[in-house]
Amino acid sequence: MTVLRTDRLLLRGWRDSDLGPWEALNADPEVREHFPDVLTREQSEASASRFRAGLDRRGWGWWAVKVRATGEFIGFAGLDPVEESMPFTGVEAGWRLARPAWGHGYATEAAMAVVTFGFETLALPEVLAITTAANHRSRAVMRRLGMTHEPAEDFDDMSVPAGPLRRTVVYRLANEDRSAL
Ligand SMILES: CC(C)(COP(=O)(O)OP(=O)(O)OC[C@H]1O[C@@H](n2cnc3c(N)ncnc32)[C@H](O)[C@@H]1OP(=O)(O)O)[C@@H](O)C(=O)NCCC(=O)NCCS
Repeated sequence: MTVLRTDRLLLRGWRDSDLGPWEALNADPEVREHFPDVLTREQSEASASRFRAGLDRRGWGWWAVKVRATGEFIGFAGLDPVEESMPFTGVEAGWRLARPAWGHGYATEAAMAVVTFGFETLALPEVLAITTAANHRSRAVMRRLGMTHEPAEDFDDMSVPAGPLRRTVVYRLANEDRSAL
């Protein structure tokens, strides 16, 4: 499996020791503000198992993110084909960090590594990012990556319960436009 290194971070496979902090992160209402609900311990464990299986099978996917200087697990970042329920196809980048790890530039640093991997190793023509319209922190990461948003592509994600979380935005970065990376 591919391991990605940045100045401050290591993106690697999931370890059993990641599960405790991963469960805590997903049980934090602030981290889950833009999702329908916090996750139970069982849901967090199941997601880590899926991420682990995806990385084992393909060599890339949703990596666990560690701060190199401290060894601390802070969340995930990675790439995955967009879900079949979406009104488009492609490969999306994503990220989710524990609240104390926000505000350090870690999400953007990890995202740049995964997007670069997508272009240079997977030879993707384009990487997408998708979030609920009100998730301004995540949208800021997308902008820092040099991604652009076309308002005409906004849509309602019907897999999300009715309400403000449904409105969804799509950001795109074409390989030929990746000057920010
Ligand atoms: C989305 C999320 C990953 C963004 O994290 P983030 O820390 O705000 O994003 P970045 O890594 O780009 O960090 C940028 C911030 O770090 C600051 N920063 C501090 N040191 C920095 C450094 N050395 N380099 C770059 N930025 C630095 C920037 O000034 C900026 O601060 P600001 O938020 O006050 O403007 C985080 O809010 C999160 O995990 N949210 C919950 C899960 C979620 O919604 N995921 C996305 C679903 S689509």
